Amino acid sequence: MSFIHHQDASDVQDDDFDDSREERRTRVQHRRMPTPKQRKSSYESNAEVQRWLAEHTLSELNKPPFAAKYLATRRDAPWLRSSLEQFYVGDLITDIVSEMKSGKEASVYRCEAHPSTGATWLAAKIYRPRIFRKLRNDAVYRLHRDQRGEGGRILSAKQRQHVADSAFARQAQVPDWIAFEFETLSRCYAAGVHVPRPWAQHAHAILMDFLGDEQSSAPRLNQVTLSPVAAQHCLTTLLGDIARMLAVGRVHGDLSAYNILYWQETPWIIDFGQSVDTHYQDLASLPEDAIFALLQRDIARVSAAFASYQLAIDPVAVAVALWDEHIHNGQ
Ligand SMILES: Nc1ncnc2c1ncn2[C@@H]1O[C@H](COP(=O)(O)OP(=O)(O)O)[C@@H](O)[C@H]1O
Ligand SMILES: [Mg+2]
Repeated sequence: MSFIHHQDASDVQDDDFDDSREERRTRVQHRRMPTPKQRKSSYESNAEVQRWLAEHTLSELNKPPFAAKYLATRRDAPWLRSSLEQFYVGDLITDIVSEMKSGKEASVYRCEAHPSTGATWLAAKIYRPRIFRKLRNDAVYRLHRDQRGEGGRILSAKQRQHVADSAFARQAQVPDWIAFEFETLSRCYAAGVHVPRPWAQHAHAILMDFLGDEQSSAPRLNQVTLSPVAAQHCLTTLLGDIARMLAVGRVHGDLSAYNILYWQETPWIIDFGQSVDTHYQDLASLPEDAIFALLQRDIARVSAAFASYQLAIDPVAVAVALWDEHIHNGQ
């Protein structure tokens, strides 16, 4: 399985290259009296930076520019391009075909897959700029993860509250949040949960397997009518997937017939934007009860989707049994 992590030039810190006292002194002087030319040459002469530039420049030179016709008619072309171009440069997609679903927070695009992927299409889920202005105002949602400060250190509860309170810092959370969605998708895929195969994440976009055919994307579970046997199989598969997710420390958090696609007689779980880490330790901001309540709600909604097939289960009993097996015994 290949996951591509694109490193931004900005990820490379000046301090990483600070290897002698003499240089440090020179840099201090530069700071006082900036001489951009010298500073630039010292930065760019670093081997790591050189390698990064060479790799990125070469791959871009070897390819014609990303000229997806689809973008020509779009007002939000720069936003879309900023993510999708990376997938193009990384030989994952060759073109954008259409917008499959446009939502308030994210849109999903059908892309033509690069032959090296072995796929025909790939789906790109791209969050909209508005998420930078307004993250969901839900304490559980905002604080359930380990939020990381600069350098990847985990912030204390107080620092996290500060992060949650400041508009500027909320913006800084966005890439973390999308990276977490991708991480959950990857984890679940590796654990054998029926989810679209994740390919890459860059900035505000996630690239994954496309479920569907030439005509359309796969229907959602609430749009299909199943035979009794297929319905039973589908429910069993979903409960197995919920258990497999718990085993790798995740509760979906927004599971319902709307976030399950039905394709090739199999239910596929999508949309992990609200997933929760069951190992999250800060009980003050997310008590165990709250995670359990999310699990129970997920199971209740799945159960509701099968009520018309007379297959409804007892969500509380199922949630308790799964919790005992995977969380209490697993710790
Ligand atoms: N991998 C995929 N393959 C095909 N269609 C997809 C895929 N992922 C999402 N979609 C389509 O996009 C819709 C929205 O995706 P979702 O991840 O649920 O985003 P949102 O956060 O907007 O609910 C889905 O209901 C489905 O129609
Ligand atoms: Mg959804």
